[in-house]
Amino acid sequence: MTRLNGKPLRILQITDCHLGRDADESLLGLTTVDTLVDVLERAVEVEDSFDLVLCSGDISNDGTTGSYDRFIQIVRQHLPAVPLAWLPGNHDDPASMRAIRSAAPRADYLSIGGWNVILLNSRVPFEERGELPQSELKRLERLLESDPLSPTMIFLHHQLVPVGSAWIDQYVVSNAADFFAITDRFDNVRAVSWGHVHQEFYMVRNGVDLIATPSTCVQFKPLSDDFMVDSTMPGYRTYELQANGVYTTHVNRVTERAYSIDLASEGY
Ligand SMILES: [Fe+2]
Repeated sequence: MTRLNGKPLRILQITDCHLGRDADESLLGLTTVDTLVDVLERAVEVEDSFDLVLCSGDISNDGTTGSYDRFIQIVRQHLPAVPLAWLPGNHDDPASMRAIRSAAPRADYLSIGGWNVILLNSRVPFEERGELPQSELKRLERLLESDPLSPTMIFLHHQLVPVGSAWIDQYVVSNAADFFAITDRFDNVRAVSWGHVHQEFYMVRNGVDLIATPSTCVQFKPLSDDFMVDSTMPGYRTYELQANGVYTTHVNRVTERAYSIDLASEGY
C-alpha cells in the first residue's frame, strides 16, 4: 500500500472528454480537445497537486487508439508524472484503450493513501445503457471481502440510480440492485462516482455517497425529461481523502470562456 506521509490523498476526476481521432473533434459545438485543455488548466491553476488523475469513461468519442494517445498526451502536458487511471464508457473501445503506445493507465484497482479505489466496467458493447457483468460483480465482491476495513471509493461510467432526467435515465445500470446487494454488506464503502450524465449530482443511499461529475465538454440540463444541452461550463471534481476515512469533494468549472455551445440540439 502506498502511504502519503500523513497527507490526504488528492484525486482529480475528469470524465466524458469525448476526444476524437482528429484534434478538431467536436460535440454540440465544443471542440473537445480545447475544453479538456481548459479544464486541466483550471485544475492546475486553482488546486493543490494531485496524487491520481482518474477518467471515468467516454474518454473517446470514436474509440480510436489515436484519441487515447491524445488524451494521455494532453493530461501529461498539464500533470506530468501524476499516476493515471481510467475505465471505459459506452463510447469507448477497451481494445483500443489497451493498445495505446504509452504505459497503460490503471483500469482495475488501486490501494493508495490508506484508501482502496475500485474501477468497474459498466459498458455494454454497442449499447448506451450500463450493466455490470457477473465478472465485474464478482471482482467487486472479492476486493471488498479481501479488505473490509480500509475506506473505499468505487468508480464506474454509468449512473447507478436515476438522476432525474428520463431520456438519460433509460441508460441507468440495469442491474444496479446486484451492485448494491454487494456493497450493502460492507461498511467501508464511502462513495460511488460516475460520469455519463454530463452534470453534477449527489445523493446519499444507505450511508454511501452517490456522485456524478460534470463532463470536460458539453453539459446536459439536470431534471429535464427530454434531451437538453445546458449552458454550464465544462468542469472537473476533486476528492481529498483522509487516512481516517473522512473525505471531501468539490466540483469546479472553467470560467471566462465564450464557447459556441449548440443549445438547440435535440440529441447527440
Ligand atoms: Fe457515456
